[in-house]
Amino acid sequence: TAATPAMITQATERQRCKRQRQDRQRDATMTSLLPMPEKRIFSGIQPTGNLHLGNYLGAIRNWVTLQDDFESIYCVVDLHAITVAQDPQQLRQSTREVAASLIAAGISPERSVLFNQSSVPQHSQLAWVFNCIARLGWLNRMTQFKEKAGKNRENATVGLYSYPTLMAADILAYRATHVPVGEDQKQHLELTRDIAQAFNQTYDVEFFPLPEPQIFGSATRVMSLRDGNSKMSKSDASDNSRINMTDGADLIAQKIRKAKTDPDALPSESAGLEGRAEAQNLVGIFAALADSDVDSVLADFGGRGFGEFKPALAELAVAKLAPMGDRMRELLANPGDIDAALADGALRAEEIAAPIIDQVNDIVGFLGAGAKSG
Ligand code: TYM
Repeated sequence: TAATPAMITQATERQRCKRQRQDRQRDATMTSLLPMPEKRIFSGIQPTGNLHLGNYLGAIRNWVTLQDDFESIYCVVDLHAITVAQDPQQLRQSTREVAASLIAAGISPERSVLFNQSSVPQHSQLAWVFNCIARLGWLNRMTQFKEKAGKNRENATVGLYSYPTLMAADILAYRATHVPVGEDQKQHLELTRDIAQAFNQTYDVEFFPLPEPQIFGSATRVMSLRDGNSKMSKSDASDNSRINMTDGADLIAQKIRKAKTDPDALPSESAGLEGRAEAQNLVGIFAALADSDVDSVLADFGGRGFGEFKPALAELAVAKLAPMGDRMRELLANPGDIDAALADGALRAEEIAAPIIDQVNDIVGFLGAGAKSG
């Protein structure tokens, strides 16, 4: 039977009402969306063992530079630390030590927001939502998990496997737009962007920014002093493989003297470093410490052997690093002050993250205190 004019009017009216309802729902979410920050920096560091030259040159130094110009949030990531076994007392101490190192390196707890991750519950909350966004296939590709889990993968914690979703939550709980890190974190940053995009698509919102990795300087991947093909790392069994931020002047000089090199003189141009991993690493470290670049260093040292280069590097490293080690030890004499600075940072961090996570809960459809939509 043909539709009567009355039926058509009714159907049109129903459609109009439905559209209005959808518009209202969308408005309820959209109009109240918090404004997207223009540029907000976030980065994190694990409180596991000593900080080393790789952490400093690849990341921390850049954090210090960025905090002058942008809103910067820096986090000691203790939740990430327990993805592998930790002694509780040692974890507390390492958290303080890392915070002290950051302050000694020039991070201002007033200008930046400096805190430890477990004090701000929004990180864990958002990580769960992201666990329900990220796909197994994406996590299966993560090289850091493969390296850390090693051969005994069945025995790795679920936390170690889902580590990158928590890292995405760290960044996106603040809707941070820029993330200064060393080269080794690039893959995790790509995953963070995938998660942000998938969340936005799933819920049809433009809520999360796609954060940009900021990998800059002459030493974005500092290598071991004992093997130019493996990364300088806290977990290397040999302490001679790294320069720790707590090493004194004598130890720094000794480690550089013992660093593996080849018998040739340094080239005058960077192309000559090709295939000479150890030489490339030491020149990169020199350039970064001198706030210079590889070409300028080679312009000075080209044609000279390691017998001349190493003492110059040791002198420079001691001049830059030893005062930081001293300052860190001074700060650690008053652990209460460090705890207070972190607690203050956590309050300020939560002030930024709480409304963002309220909105996430609302977008996802969780009923509760933060809910705005019908
Ligand atoms: P972590 O604690 O291993 O290292 C902290 C920072 O130091 C950089 N780095 C290096 N840079 C150059 N050469 C090296 N040999 C070297 N070793 C370490 C790292 O790239 C990093 O920038 N997953 C992160 C911590 C994290 C995070 C975050 C970072 C958790 N949530 C959110 C950024 C944003 C990690 O394990 O870094």
